[in-house]
Amino acid sequence: MVSYKELGLVNTREMFAKAVKGGYAIPAFNFNNMEQLQAIIQAAAELRSPVILQVSKGARNYANQTLLRYMAQGAVEYAKELGWENPQIVLHLDHGDSFELCKSCVDFGFSSVMIDASSLPYEDNIALTKKVVDYAHKYDVTVEAELGVLAGVEEEVASEVSHYTKPEEVVDFATRTGCDSLAISIGTSHGAYKFKPEQCTRDPKTGRLVPPPLAFDVLKAVEEQLPGFPIVLHGSSSVPQEYVDMINKYGGKLPDAVGIPEEQLRLAAKSAVCKINIDSDSRLAMTAAVRKDLYENPGHFDPRQYLKPARDEMKKMYIQKIVDVLGSDGKA
Ligand code: G3H
Ligand code: 13P
Ligand code: ZN
Repeated sequence: MVSYKELGLVNTREMFAKAVKGGYAIPAFNFNNMEQLQAIIQAAAELRSPVILQVSKGARNYANQTLLRYMAQGAVEYAKELGWENPQIVLHLDHGDSFELCKSCVDFGFSSVMIDASSLPYEDNIALTKKVVDYAHKYDVTVEAELGVLAGVEEEVASEVSHYTKPEEVVDFATRTGCDSLAISIGTSHGAYKFKPEQCTRDPKTGRLVPPPLAFDVLKAVEEQLPGFPIVLHGSSSVPQEYVDMINKYGGKLPDAVGIPEEQLRLAAKSAVCKINIDSDSRLAMTAAVRKDLYENPGHFDPRQYLKPARDEMKKMYIQKIVDVLGSDGKA
């Protein structure tokens, strides 16, 4: 048993309470490689932004859970080296799908876990979430749960349809499970193709897809039911069109990739939404920079030659999200 406290990590309790009160959101960035982690930590340390490092199922399969945990431990020390005396870094299990997995993360030094039982029947979701909460809370590890189902398809996280969260269920769910935060479904989805072209309109000037708005009425109703309770938004990449264009220009093919417009995420961050999950935008930034570098420099074969610009591009993107969208800079 390793306590996250010995590793210098923190749980989400205090940071969420401050974020809800302060009208901003904490960035939850997925990581599965060193360059991503360096970029996240450099951005958070320079901006003194609390940050959540998320480990997904795909990341565990790709990089190994043990290695990722040690990388997060290293990230705390790296942040201190960068001059951040008291780093506010959470290590979070993203989309945990079983009690055993959540337990293994609690036992191994994660400071926060998500149990995603949202695809189960309501009572089963409650029972499994409560079981995880009861265990995690013994070690002061915080638990995110999910009600409602996100649309979209992304490798391990797949769902064809979107079922918005039912506001009339949230009080019963939060009370009976004791969860610390709740991911809700208001129209976001995972991946770089969040909406089909037929769900969007087109901007007549640019020809770009304009996605339908998020269901802010559902978010408002949830907030009214659970005043001050920390709400989480998954699937919140904005799929910056400059990256899509770069990827397509330098040999890629991402037709009609579209995300959540940042002005909607800004609005959400000012509400009870206090954790915003971003993964795809990092993938896009990295791929765009790598493609550009290799296209312009056919002689490059040392991975450091193309991973350095990729890391710089991801850092730029993380900084922009923190400062321009979430408002979490200067909060740690
Ligand atoms: O939860 C959404 C993640 O972006 C999924 O990531 O493909 O690494 O499992 P993954
Ligand atoms: P995106 O695919 O929009 O980046 O969402 C990531 C996410 O929700 C991770 O849990
Ligand atoms: Zn997610």
